Amino acid sequence: MKLLEPLQFGKRILKNRVFMAPLVRARSDSGRAPTDIVGTYYAQRASAGLIITEGTHVSPWSATRTHASGQHTDAQTAAWGRVVTSVHQAGGTIFQQLYHVGRRALRSALPNNGLPLAPSPIRSIDGILTDGELEPFPLPRALETHEVAGIVDDFRFASRRAAQAGFDGVEIMGGGGFLIDQFLRDGSNVRTDAYGGSLENRARLLLEVVDAAIAELGAAGVGIRLAPHFRADGISDTDILGAFTYVVKELERRGIAYIHLLEGTTHDENPFIPLYKRIVHKRAAGVGPGPLPGDPFYAPITRSLFSGVLILNGGYSRESAEQVLSDGLADAVAFGRLYISNPDLPERFRLNAPLVDADTSTYFTNGSRGYTDYPSLAEQQSAETL
Ligand SMILES: Cc1cc2nc3c(=O)[nH]c(=O)nc-3n(C[C@H](O)[C@H](O)[C@H](O)COP(=O)(O)O)c2cc1C
Repeated sequence: MKLLEPLQFGKRILKNRVFMAPLVRARSDSGRAPTDIVGTYYAQRASAGLIITEGTHVSPWSATRTHASGQHTDAQTAAWGRVVTSVHQAGGTIFQQLYHVGRRALRSALPNNGLPLAPSPIRSIDGILTDGELEPFPLPRALETHEVAGIVDDFRFASRRAAQAGFDGVEIMGGGGFLIDQFLRDGSNVRTDAYGGSLENRARLLLEVVDAAIAELGAAGVGIRLAPHFRADGISDTDILGAFTYVVKELERRGIAYIHLLEGTTHDENPFIPLYKRIVHKRAAGVGPGPLPGDPFYAPITRSLFSGVLILNGGYSRESAEQVLSDGLADAVAFGRLYISNPDLPERFRLNAPLVDADTSTYFTNGSRGYTDYPSLAEQQSAETL
């Protein structure tokens, strides 16, 4: 099975192509430092080719629900160090996802009762559910030009802290409607300085952040998550294909480890999987990618422009993941929801064993229930024979 074949990853060889997608699970303490069960949780999943941690805040100005984790204080870095040690002892490889939520911050959690930060004073739709109450996102404050360097520094110092904690690398969250994405899209960025207007200007923050991370960890220690299909939360763009193509070309020049493409949204079926087969056939017949049903096919576009590792994610099963890998459209597939409830996912794939559905009610609750108590197949079988 292609999914279980090793993968050359910079100087490393990863043991398989079944990656764990980033998943916020809100099991940190009140200072946003991961608790001991976080180390247990990730170590249970160390048979993944690569673990990408939950989105981790790079600054107190990037704050969401309580108990979501950070990487901007000494206590957080020390706690992450213990998590990484557990994963390495279990034979795993782990990158830390770093993000700044920008205008999607939880106002009540921000310093000095300040407003969320954004490229422009344009509100994100929706809000955050805290204790059953929806806290709507307020009108954010546009960052002054001189403040943008401070955002780049937030990522620089968080990358440095990730290296100190022993992480094998970092994944910059460049999608999902968060701050970097807010800068990239002209629906949320109407600035007139060097960070707004042309797509080169709108991509400037993203590339400065990537360069800062490379300076700390080297290009082989930096990956990025992009989500060009993402349209929720008031995110829009008049030419996302142009912006995306420019960004991928620039990332290729920098030689980063990987691009992690989030296709579709968390809850929808991935609409591209059934169509990929057609692209591969057309390409084999020399007729290009064929007609595009509304959305461009970002995976083949990325494949043609980027020579590093390409990870796909969003609604994949064992079969559809195997299909895109054997068709050569990607090098690895990341699984989100399946990793919540199947800690030994590669082994289950190997045996084609039944998969357990995740309990959505414990996604963001504190404690080990619905977190570290999903058994591996071996644990399940030994419990059954007792
Ligand atoms: C509980 C939960 C938390 C998530 N947290 C993050 C996150 O921190 N960062 C991120 O980029 N995506 C996050 N996602 C999205 C997942 O990484 C993934 O893209 C999504 O679940 C689709 O993949 P899947 O179909 O394999 O589950 C989260 C999804 C879920 C269900």
